[in-house]
Amino acid sequence: MDSFEYLDGRLHCEEVALSDVARDYGTPLYVYSRDAIERAYLSYAQALEQTNALVCYAVKANSNLAVLNILARLGAGFDIVSLGELERVLQAGGKPEKIVFSGVGKQAHEIQRALDVGIFCFNIESDAELDRVNQVAKDMGKIARISFRVNPDVDAGTHPYISTGLKENKFGIDIDHARQVYRRAAALDAVEVVGMDCHIGSQLTEMDPFLDAMDRLLSLIDELNEDGIRIHHLDLGGGLGVCYTDETPPTPSEYISKVLERLGDRPIQLIFEPGRSIVANAGVLLTRVEFLKQNGEKNFAIIDAAMNDLIRPALYSAYQEIIPVTMAEESPDTAKLWDLVGPVCETSDFLGKGRSLNLQAGDLLAVCSAGAYGFVMASNYNTRGRPAEVMVDDDQVFLVREREQVADLFKGESILPIDR
Ligand code: LLP
Repeated sequence: MDSFEYLDGRLHCEEVALSDVARDYGTPLYVYSRDAIERAYLSYAQALEQTNALVCYAVKANSNLAVLNILARLGAGFDIVSLGELERVLQAGGKPEKIVFSGVGKQAHEIQRALDVGIFCFNIESDAELDRVNQVAKDMGKIARISFRVNPDVDAGTHPYISTGLKENKFGIDIDHARQVYRRAAALDAVEVVGMDCHIGSQLTEMDPFLDAMDRLLSLIDELNEDGIRIHHLDLGGGLGVCYTDETPPTPSEYISKVLERLGDRPIQLIFEPGRSIVANAGVLLTRVEFLKQNGEKNFAIIDAAMNDLIRPALYSAYQEIIPVTMAEESPDTAKLWDLVGPVCETSDFLGKGRSLNLQAGDLLAVCSAGAYGFVMASNYNTRGRPAEVMVDDDQVFLVREREQVADLFKGESILPIDR
């Protein structure tokens, strides 16, 4: 989180004090650092400089148009999973020829639009989806470039809800069945087999599962070569972890150098789909303490952000640091242990438990590492408007998404027209 630092006891994002941002834009509020996003992307791009590799940012991690636009300007490609994400990328200036389309359930109209704009590749996840893509392309008189997401059956060693590369997961095509599917695809007339992909899970902190998966895919590529099927690109998905507290994941450049070593001199273009490692530590969620209360032995700080704003703690028991926006004057030994809970009517509505903090009502807190899977997973549960988002660029702050207003929350709903 090095774009977020204390200066004279006040937490800053780049050149801007977060207490000023909270005063101007209110809380709860997502704050992103342009510099942090750019540096994270460039750590991939620079490690791949001597290659023809493509870095396709996983839009699902944070799909704000400003984030996408910053990455598009740097030449990033994009990994999308829906028509909505496709339209966002185009709106933000992303190039269709650098888009890969992932996801297990692509609908015909989504495939159509992606073919219309000319995306780079469809990452196909099942036999049935192959037939659908082939049919849609045929009806349009086009050829769809395709890759198969192979499920290599490796344990990513991450939280079960974000592990995707095991046989028991819904993702991809069983590696034992993959050769047969490739052969079938090669015989279809409206698809062109160009690649192979995998994505074994998210928040991986070890290198080995990535390399094991890569080895399995490389052997499959060799087998396909024997069948006369040439694989032009290998897409290793996303998944590289970040430091939320004390994890020590490999850096993008460490990871990439191992991958390049494994690839050797094979004439295969590499693709990466990083999400979290580009944006997680480029964002915080600012929240204000509303009330302090004690129930039994427990100290609760009721804050104005809730599980609807940031669901990761409730959904995955995820740990994200929570730090004061202004350093307390008191010595730390006056700190107590607090559960930081939101106003939503659920026991799972917490952003942190047992955190040692000096707190008073009205204090501002920053939930760290909230740039990935934060706002994008926010909901309107309890008819709460989703937070605003701002982007800091040096000493400037830009509102990149307005706070939802109450009227927005039931827009499009209607009551029945007749009395009974
Ligand atoms: N490619 C595919 C096909 C994916 O499914 C994902 C993430 C990525 C790339 C990007 O992975 P990353 O680099 O961000 O690990 N909501 C969860 C994470 C879900 C990840 C889903 N797929 C969380 O908050 O931890």
